[in-house]
Amino acid sequence: MKRKLIIVGNWKMNGSITDLKRFIKDLKPSVSDKVDAGLCVPYTMLATLKEEAKDLNFKIGAQNMHYNESGAFTGEISPDMLLEIGVDTVIIGHSERRSYYNETDETVNLKLLKAIEKKLKPIVCVGESLVQREKGLAKDICKKQVENAFKGVSKTDAQNVILAYEPIWAIGTGKTASSEDAEEMALYIRNVLKDIFDEHTADIIRIQYGGSVKPSNVEELMAMPNIDGALVGGASLKTEDFAKLIDLNI
Ligand code: PGA
Repeated sequence: MKRKLIIVGNWKMNGSITDLKRFIKDLKPSVSDKVDAGLCVPYTMLATLKEEAKDLNFKIGAQNMHYNESGAFTGEISPDMLLEIGVDTVIIGHSERRSYYNETDETVNLKLLKAIEKKLKPIVCVGESLVQREKGLAKDICKKQVENAFKGVSKTDAQNVILAYEPIWAIGTGKTASSEDAEEMALYIRNVLKDIFDEHTADIIRIQYGGSVKPSNVEELMAMPNIDGALVGGASLKTEDFAKLIDLNI
């Protein structure tokens, strides 16, 4: 079964409101129903993204959120604050947050449970580092991350979660995992999901690949049977590139 592709850009800490307005205006002709597309921008740009993309089939994504509803958490943003400005999607556990901001499997799980409760679409990131891959630990690491992330999640709720397999060594480095390696890991992760839930649930969950996805490699990656989309950093900053990534004929 080929699931509908979901291609989401992640601007990280880049861009400006002015850039975003121009970006969406130029991207409009390429947004269609062929794939699910969307963009995760810095918090300060989310309301603008919502406004500029209001007539489009386009996901409005944040790059993180807190798992508490409110409280003394200086500098943090709650799920309700995101919902209030029309955000519908949130990245959870990006490797940059895991390595620089002490995001753990436990906080990823708390955030996933909260996102589900709040009906925000979660994109949960998992992936191994280069050292872990070289030691032959890629699968073990991803298995542990997936199992911990989904603790306490029901089968029905799990079907709505997007998993992003992002080998850390491929992020922002220009090094892409070969489509065979990416497929092998996506298939492995799907089997982990089958063990946690059941075959039906595992078949429905969409697994993105992330790590230096660009127009020149997107088709080959997306043609893989277990890869159902992409989480895109660098190439989502240029309208021309991102337009090509969401205008796929697969
Ligand atoms: P990249 O980033 O496309 O620049 O490698 C991917 C990501 O961090 O999601």
